[in-house]
Amino acid sequence: MKKVITYGTFDLFHIGHQKILERAKAYGDYLVVGVTGEHYDIDRGKLNVEESLEERIENVRKTGLADQIIVENYEGQKISDIQKYNIDVFVIGSDWLGKFDYLNDYCQVKYLERTKGISSSIIRSENKIIRIGMIGAGRIANRFVPESKFVSGVHISGVCSTEGAKEFADKHEIGFYTEDYNELIERVDAVYIATPHGSHYALAKQALLAGKHVLCEKPMTLKSSETIELFEIAAKNKLILIEAIKTAFAPGFIRLIEIAKSGIIGSIKDVSATFTKIEKGDKRELNPDSDGGSLYELGTYPLIGILKLLGKPDDVNFFSYMNNGIDAYTKVILSYKQAIATAQTGLGVKSEGNMVIAGTEGYIYVPAPWWKTEEFEVRFEDFSKNKKFFYKFYGDGLRYEIAEFVKQIKFPDQPSWKLTSEDSILLSNILERFKMN
Ligand code: CTP
Repeated sequence: MKKVITYGTFDLFHIGHQKILERAKAYGDYLVVGVTGEHYDIDRGKLNVEESLEERIENVRKTGLADQIIVENYEGQKISDIQKYNIDVFVIGSDWLGKFDYLNDYCQVKYLERTKGISSSIIRSENKIIRIGMIGAGRIANRFVPESKFVSGVHISGVCSTEGAKEFADKHEIGFYTEDYNELIERVDAVYIATPHGSHYALAKQALLAGKHVLCEKPMTLKSSETIELFEIAAKNKLILIEAIKTAFAPGFIRLIEIAKSGIIGSIKDVSATFTKIEKGDKRELNPDSDGGSLYELGTYPLIGILKLLGKPDDVNFFSYMNNGIDAYTKVILSYKQAIATAQTGLGVKSEGNMVIAGTEGYIYVPAPWWKTEEFEVRFEDFSKNKKFFYKFYGDGLRYEIAEFVKQIKFPDQPSWKLTSEDSILLSNILERFKMN
C-alpha cells in the first residue's frame, strides 16, 4: 500500500484545499492529513486563523478524502510522522517549493501547483478589511505600521498628527493624512492611539462616542475613573477597546502565566519583574509636564505580569529616586495576603530586566528581556528536575496586540481573557495612586 501525507491549516476550507487533497490522494492508496494545532500556528507567526482546530479537522474530514487525520504540533514533527506512519510520498503546495527538500531523506517529496487566486488569507480579508486610522506619528507609530502587515484583515488607511503627518504617510504609504482628528475618525473603522499619555482619555472617548473601536497605547489613562468610563462607553456601544500592552498577547508570556499558575512551583509567594531603559536628552519620557517618568513609561509591563499572576493587590507602595522632576527609578511593592511582589522601572537607572516567580516548590526564571518572553526555566531544589521552555516572539511583538484587536472586532462574542477591562482599570488605579503619592 502506498501511503501519502500532506499538511495544512485548512482554515475556512476552500477549493484550493479540496484540490490539493484530491491530488494528494491520487498519489497513493492511503492519505494522512496533518492539521496544524493552534499553538503551533501562533508559534510560527500565523496569527489570524479563524476556525478552531476541531472545525478545521471537521473541514478535512467532510471531504471524505483523508483516511487518517493527525495534528501537527511542532516544528520538525514531519520527520517523525513520515517514519511513524510509514509514508511513501509527502505532498505540499508549490508555495513551499524547496522548503521540504530535506524530507527526501525519508520519502518522496512532491510540490503541487497551487490553485490560483484563492487562499484562506484572501477569504479572511474579503470578509471585511478593518480600516485603522492612527493618531500620532512618533516612534511607536513608526513600529506599528510594519507590524500591522503581518496581520491579515487590517489596513492602516490614514494617519492624523499635528506634526509630520505627510512625511509619515509618505514613508509608510498610507492612503491619507490629516491634522483633523474628526476627519480621521470619520474615514476609518477603528483608531489606534499613539500619542502622549495625557491625551489618551479624550481621544479614546471621542472615537468611541463616534462608534469606532479603539486600540490605545499604554498606559490607557492615569486615572481609574477615566479608564472605567471608557470601558463603559465601549460596552454600551458594543465596541472593542484594548490597551496596547504587547506582552499580554505574546504566546510565550501566555504560556508562562499558565505554567506558573498550574501549581508546578507550588503556591506563588513572590514575583519580581524589572524593566529599565536609559533615556537621555530632551524627550517626552523625561519631561514632567508630559507625564514623564519611569513608572508611567514602563510600569504597565511588570505590573501586568504581577496582576496576571497574583490578581488585585491588598496594598501598593512606591519608592522612587527622583531626578529633574520625574521618577528616574521606581520600585513598586504590591502586597497580598499570601504573597508579595515588586516591580522595578528605570529611565535613569539600569538594571537586569528579568522576572522571577518564586513558589513554595520551586521558581521560574525568565531572562531579560522577559517582556518579550521567548524562554524561561522552571527550577527546583533538585536541579535535575529543572525544565526549560522556548517560544517565538516575532519582530516587535506589536503584531500580537493587532491580531487580538482584529479578532475581538470580528468575534465580539468571544471576549478577550488575555487583557481584560479589569486588568486595565487596575493598572490605571495603581498609576493613579503613584501620582497621589
Ligand atoms: N493550497 C493550494 N492552493 C491554494 C491554497 C492552498 O494548493 N490556493 C494548499 C497549500 O499549498 C497547502 C494546503 O493547501 O499545501 C494547505 O494550505 P493552507 O496553508 O491551509 O491554506 P492557505 O489558503 O494557503 O492559507 P493561508 O492563506 O492562511 O496561508
